[in-house]
Amino acid sequence: MVDYPRAFVTGYPIRHSRSPLIHGYWLRQFGLEGSYQAVEVTPDAFSGFILTARDNGFAGGNVTIPHKEMAFSLCEKRDSAAEEIGAVNTLWFENGILHGGNTDAYGFLANLDSLSPGWSNRKSALVLGAGGASRAVVFALKERGFTDIRIVNRTIERARELADRFEVSGGAHGWDAMPELLLGASLIVNTTSLGMSGKDELAIDLTGADSDALVTDIVYVPLETPLLQAARSRGLETADGLGMLLHQAVPGFERWFGKRPEVTAELRNIVLADM
Ligand code: ATR
Repeated sequence: MVDYPRAFVTGYPIRHSRSPLIHGYWLRQFGLEGSYQAVEVTPDAFSGFILTARDNGFAGGNVTIPHKEMAFSLCEKRDSAAEEIGAVNTLWFENGILHGGNTDAYGFLANLDSLSPGWSNRKSALVLGAGGASRAVVFALKERGFTDIRIVNRTIERARELADRFEVSGGAHGWDAMPELLLGASLIVNTTSLGMSGKDELAIDLTGADSDALVTDIVYVPLETPLLQAARSRGLETADGLGMLLHQAVPGFERWFGKRPEVTAELRNIVLADM
């Protein structure tokens, strides 16, 4: 058995994951002996993989689609973000016990903190989408003290569920309410898959948006989504989705390998070159 720390990222499929590139960069930067590998595991095999991971020499790992909810139920202990969001993306063992955390909300906040200090002085947010990514974003915004969070989704029932779960004051809305919802929204976050390569474009008219609004997208392929292009052409501040991906990886690396890594411009360029 190897005696250096090992970590994994597992999903199904997993071949497009950039996580090995990110953690491999940090391992090299610190000159650490350690490994981080992608392991493709089907949903049927997932619990067996996780429950034997420690015996197989893993300090922990990341979990991505479609395993985040299953990971949540396998953990004996979970951090508060995972509990609130209902999904786990980071696993580690402590005294032999499987712990789970969710670093997506942390990644979302840390990215905006680094790109736009003071961004969270804004208190009114419009969140597009009501899936798993949206849960992390809404949780993060509540943590940061946003008092007016409006959730808009194609399927209004999902928006309602999310608004109830986090008791948001701005309520749940269908897509056609967008023009009014934009008025006064000083942060606009896309958490839907619209705008991603191969998917439909996110058609949104930003005319009513505040002139000091910050527009951010969790989609990062392509980096310049149509939403961000539209925002920039109106002179609005923007933040792309790649930073969230990079920042959400930081807490896991620190747990498994014992060093707190940095999200550098060089790392960003390495990941961009791979896209
Ligand atoms: P994730 O966990 O990555 O957030 P998800 O749970 O599948 O993924 O959620 C995807 C989000 O994108 C949802 O808000 C979804 O809207 P619905 O709840 O109505 O499905 C949204 N989405 C995906 N395709 C869309 C489309 N063509 N038009 C509008 N919204 C779309």
